[in-house]
Amino acid sequence: MIINLDEIDSTNEYLKRMSKDGWNSDETLIVTAQYQTSGKGRRGRSWVTQPGTTLMFSVMMKPKLTLNDCSMLTLVMALAVRRALCDMDIETKIKWPNDLVLNKKKICGILTEAIAETGQIIIGVGINTNQDSMPDDLKDSATSILMETDDCVDHDSLLDNIIYHFEKLTESVYEAGDLSPVREEYEESLVSMNSKVTVLDPNGEYDGICKGIDDKGQLIVEHDDKETKVYAGEVSVRGIYGYV
Ligand code: BTN
Repeated sequence: MIINLDEIDSTNEYLKRMSKDGWNSDETLIVTAQYQTSGKGRRGRSWVTQPGTTLMFSVMMKPKLTLNDCSMLTLVMALAVRRALCDMDIETKIKWPNDLVLNKKKICGILTEAIAETGQIIIGVGINTNQDSMPDDLKDSATSILMETDDCVDHDSLLDNIIYHFEKLTESVYEAGDLSPVREEYEESLVSMNSKVTVLDPNGEYDGICKGIDDKGQLIVEHDDKETKVYAGEVSVRGIYGYV
């Protein structure tokens, strides 16, 4: 089921309220908004956009995975968005775990939240589509599809195609119980694959070479002649181009 809203605080928050009010069905629920008054980004940041210029939606579902493994679906959503943009001849890369970049600038962010009590997860997606400029503080690190291609994006058909790919990818991940069926595709899309990255670990920053992901979606970083697995919840990773 899809609910289309003009204005809301945050599509993720809206779905959390739906869950609290008892929506606990196995059916996937999708909510879109033209404008969010308190859009949320990762790491407690806000996600601010102009009305109608961004495709914003959240998906609430009950994954056939343990709550621990649900973070894999964030990577799956990144791949689904990438595939849908690819179908429009827009070649994006993934900045692990789930930002999409176009010409080395961010065009899509994903915020996944789990509801432990019900086993539901909410995957919120924001795609910079039709902005004709970026605010000064973002213009070095973010861009939009319009700015890069001169083409306006039809939000409804892009959303339909993302959901189509997400459902197909999710099926294969459920069947395997991990990301093994999509790992190669994900690694081919990684912006930092085989390049130097800086891991911003709260216990100490270090440099290494990105070697891909494991079957659970942890980033494999080679440093000091050994491979370390980086879990997305704990650290962020910066590549050689600043933002990417
Ligand atoms: C990030 O890159 O920091 C994640 C951004 C996620 C933004 C989307 S927009 C739809 C959904 N609702 C929110 O409040 N946030 C996500």
